[in-house]
Amino acid sequence: MKAIELTAPTLTAFRQIELPDPKAGRGEVLIRLRAAALNFLDVAIATGNFPGMRFPMIPVADGAGEVAALGEGVSQFAIGDRVIPHFMPNWQGGIITPHNVAAMRGATLPGSLAEYVAVPASSLVALPDHLDFVQGATLPIAATTAWNAVRSAQIRPGSVVVLLGTGGVSIFALQFAKAAGATVIIASSSDEKLERARHLGADHLINYRATPAWDEEVLKLTDGRGADLVVETVGEATMMRAINAAATGGTIFTVGFVSGTSSSIELLPIIVKALRIIGNNTGSVADLAEATRAIAAHRIEPVIDRVFDIEDTPTAYAELSTGGRHFGKLAIAH
Ligand SMILES: NC(=O)c1ccc[n+]([C@@H]2O[C@H](COP(=O)([O-])OP(=O)(O)OC[C@H]3O[C@@H](n4cnc5c(N)ncnc54)[C@H](OP(=O)(O)O)[C@@H]3O)[C@@H](O)[C@H]2O)c1
Repeated sequence: MKAIELTAPTLTAFRQIELPDPKAGRGEVLIRLRAAALNFLDVAIATGNFPGMRFPMIPVADGAGEVAALGEGVSQFAIGDRVIPHFMPNWQGGIITPHNVAAMRGATLPGSLAEYVAVPASSLVALPDHLDFVQGATLPIAATTAWNAVRSAQIRPGSVVVLLGTGGVSIFALQFAKAAGATVIIASSSDEKLERARHLGADHLINYRATPAWDEEVLKLTDGRGADLVVETVGEATMMRAINAAATGGTIFTVGFVSGTSSSIELLPIIVKALRIIGNNTGSVADLAEATRAIAAHRIEPVIDRVFDIEDTPTAYAELSTGGRHFGKLAIAH
């Protein structure tokens, strides 16, 4: 099969190779991959910012494709089924454990930039009928995380959700929060991106360049009450403002670090407002399945900024690592 290998932790070390086709073992399914989608994680791996990696490796955690062969004992899928392999196949459901997160496609296991991959049947989720392979490939990391964020705060009609930036996680969170009937406040560096967010249902738009004190704006927009949920995708630059913007009893769902990983925060507002600060490491196959069911029920269309050919993989990575240019997801078709 044809594949793209990353031979070293640098964005210039991609090469096209031929490898033997993998075989589906007992309990496994062979998938003909058709698309991949990029996440910050893939860039971290390709820039040496993810510990424990061995090179060469086949990169990209997220993908989608169709069933090409069934291993012994697999009866729940048929050849030709359109599927999404979750990127952490050990984590079927329940709480996170070191074992659950030890195996990761595109990191410790072969990723999505290959024609074929063999994965456990138990790590597959069916692709909703209304989505194509490229759209399906965007779901495992970003949609699962956004789904867990919205669920963690029991978002319902009347809830207020604050989203930071217009990247993959924020835009899925916007779509899930609107499907749950919430009021969404979104902050971006770009008025044009904010307009696109408005078309997806965002109720209030804040340009965080023009209004750096976006937390005060959130308080104004909510008559001083604050947000029930802040999806913290940015980290260092925003954590203290997220705390300030949260309502009493609100949730800060901490997932991201696009601006850095250390933060100096005031403890008193956390205590006084009894905030829930929840860390999250994507989610399980069961979480992906739930997110996918919600996407199917509400006919949510993943928002994809650009689709690159597999030959243009280095350009796709460069685009994501530059940061801030895309809206939603970047994907690779093959
Ligand atoms: N722990 C988990 O479960 C988990 C899962 C998925 C992702 N993540 C992490 O979550 C983060 C976001 O992921 P992603 O895939 O959505 O990334 P992404 O697509 O690269 O989006 C990042 C966005 O952050 C916005 N941003 C940057 N600086 C900002 C600031 N100071 N204030 C507000 N927004 C700012 C930008 O939006 P504008 O261009 O609109 O300004 C940018 O497009 C990453 O750190 C990723 O590693 C964690």
